[in-house]
Amino acid sequence: MRYLVTGGAGFIGSNFIAYLLENDLSAEIINFDILTYAGNLENLKDIERKYSDRYSFVQGDIRNQAIVEEVFEKHSPDVVINFAAESHVDRSITNPNIFVETNVLGTATLLNVAKKFWQKSNYEGKRFLQVSTDEVYGTLPEDKPEEKFTELTPLQPHSPYSASKGAADMLVQAYFDTFDFPALLTRCSNNYGPYQFPEKLIPLMINNANNNEPLPVYGDGRNIRDWLYVDDHCDAIYTVVNKGKLGEVYNIGGNNEIKNIDIVKNILNYLGKSESLIKYVTDRPGHDRRYAIDARKIKTELGWEPKYKFEQQIKFTIQWYLDNTEWLGRILSGEYRKYYEQNYKNR
Ligand code: NAD
Ligand code: TYD
Repeated sequence: MRYLVTGGAGFIGSNFIAYLLENDLSAEIINFDILTYAGNLENLKDIERKYSDRYSFVQGDIRNQAIVEEVFEKHSPDVVINFAAESHVDRSITNPNIFVETNVLGTATLLNVAKKFWQKSNYEGKRFLQVSTDEVYGTLPEDKPEEKFTELTPLQPHSPYSASKGAADMLVQAYFDTFDFPALLTRCSNNYGPYQFPEKLIPLMINNANNNEPLPVYGDGRNIRDWLYVDDHCDAIYTVVNKGKLGEVYNIGGNNEIKNIDIVKNILNYLGKSESLIKYVTDRPGHDRRYAIDARKIKTELGWEPKYKFEQQIKFTIQWYLDNTEWLGRILSGEYRKYYEQNYKNR
């Protein structure tokens, strides 16, 4: 099986590539990534060495039809897994256009090229998996814990990020409905684990706490996310690509709802730092209150459920960032510094 993994130099994509090469000895992977600020080939340096016969990298833009066609011509992938995206809500508030360009137009280009190449063989043995997010469903009330997002929950995104992901999801579903294009969709909750870019909650708080800098908690800190360890997400994607029914959406979640403030306190506690480092700052505009995934469909139909426990994996993750200060240091010294100042200066 030949996999074209887009966005494979990012957080989840690079974890997925490692997962796939280690767990499926018949898998060959082409990692196609433009290397934005969030793309980092250092995430894959061990993999590159260990699996050079089954792994290759092509630098390119999913919005560029000619380059994507070249990749299809040369490598004839059977499966496309589209991780490539602009993925940070705060950046989508200050610069929405790039989210529409990458997440919507980029997905459209990938669909068009895959359709063009695959329809010659009537899509035999071909699969396109769009990696989406629970954020497309909008927000849930915190006082009704029994309410969760199912695959039938209407899309009601609130940020430019989630709106662009929702638009891409609809395009993918339209290709299935209109062209019998072999599409699958997954919508996952918040991931955590190694190699996450430090603009996101967990690595940002670990890094600040470790450096005795203030921990900027948005609003009252009581927003809830449903946290899933990244390897569980990779395993779920692999399950859907191999066992999922074409045209279907599968929600993926950890059944693990936690308030932001409790995550922050957990990190401070592990590091032995004082809670006086917590700084409540101006809320994110349009901030979704609560996400929670109902993952019964993927469990009953495909037999997938999370393997990892949050209590253990959060410790492992914190320790990973402490042990990988060089990886972190190289990111923190670059463009990230400017972004951090812009996003947090006047909060
Ligand atoms: P990330 O920002 O860490 O990585 C995104 C990758 O896409 C980067 O390597 C970047 O260089 C690449 N990319 C961006 N624009 C590109 C383009 N035009 N052409 C080619 N490559 C491009 O993101 P992530 O957290 O790894 O998320 C991966 C996917 O999973 C995204 O689609 C995101 O919406 C989805 N998702 C993420 C989470 C989460 O908690 N992080 C949860 C659910 C779904
Ligand atoms: P984030 O990691 O950006 O993921 P998402 O917004 O896609 O869920 O944020 C997770 C939660 O943490 C979200 O409720 C916003 C909050 N948050 C803060 O309180 N402070 C911060 O500095 C960041 C980056 C996030």
